[in-house]
Amino acid sequence: MSRTLEQRLSGRVALVTGSGSGIGRAISIRFASEGAALVINDVDEKTALETRQMIEKLGKKAIVVKADISKSAEVEAMAKEAYEKFGRVDVLVNNAGVSGIPYKLIDLPEKEWDEVMAVNLRGTWLVSKVICKRMLKQEPLKISTLLGKVINISSIAGKTGEQTVGCYSATKAGIIAVTQAMARELGPKITVNAICPGFILTNIYLNKEEVVMAGARIFENIHTVGEIPLKRIGQPEDVANVAAFLASTDSDYMTGQAINICGGIAFH
Ligand SMILES: NC(=O)c1ccc[n+]([C@@H]2O[C@H](COP(=O)([O-])OP(=O)(O)OC[C@H]3O[C@@H](n4cnc5c(N)ncnc54)[C@H](O)[C@@H]3O)[C@@H](O)[C@H]2O)c1
Repeated sequence: MSRTLEQRLSGRVALVTGSGSGIGRAISIRFASEGAALVINDVDEKTALETRQMIEKLGKKAIVVKADISKSAEVEAMAKEAYEKFGRVDVLVNNAGVSGIPYKLIDLPEKEWDEVMAVNLRGTWLVSKVICKRMLKQEPLKISTLLGKVINISSIAGKTGEQTVGCYSATKAGIIAVTQAMARELGPKITVNAICPGFILTNIYLNKEEVVMAGARIFENIHTVGEIPLKRIGQPEDVANVAAFLASTDSDYMTGQAINICGGIAFH
């Protein structure tokens, strides 16, 4: 059956964490433009409301649920609100994440380790646990035998330990392991895949002075644009394109995979 892109996600409900900014916002807008209703989550309500406004301008439905994904009570409340409003979640995108302050691992304060782990790895697991339990109880949509899809935003830094962002790398490697384990545990009812972005221009490099420096260092010293085969830094929409494919029935025979979207800078 042929479908236009506007129809590809019609009738679906997607929950995207950290969708007040960057990659999460681009994914939400792309999903909405393909017909999905959105649950916009962020710890920053102001930016989440801006994303909702952009989606409403497309004539699509969206609600905002403010929650810190590292806190189980807030995650439970978010799931309750999403299911009360829409009755189902077909696609979960675990996107919210923080980069942390760059340190060599031998200098990294324990507090910094715990905070980055709590959001990136614990948060991804917590939201998946709470939402997938509910997904397993919902009826499949007519267009698929699957009950739902999970898309985890990892990183190419999860495939090699990058210097000065070792804790971040560890969280992203952990997300790939969680993706593979959950793909085995939840098949054949739910697919679980990961996207590993390379260098994507977002606020993640701009929030803190140290991170601006880290971002600049990464761009200039570790991987210059010239080293990227496609010769440009990625845009959030580059990631959203692949997320939309993973959310659609076009990817129904894929699970447990970790796909690089990196302009060719990483090959594994
Ligand atoms: N930008 C890149 O180059 C790049 C590369 C690889 C992976 N990623 C990953 O992509 C994801 C999105 O990052 P981005 O680049 O769009 O950054 P971003 O800073 O623009 O967006 C991250 C969003 O997550 C939200 N957030 C942070 N902590 C949260 C929490 N505890 N609960 C709920 N929301 C929270 C922030 O408020 C923000 O809106 C992250 O997981 C990041 O690690 C980004």
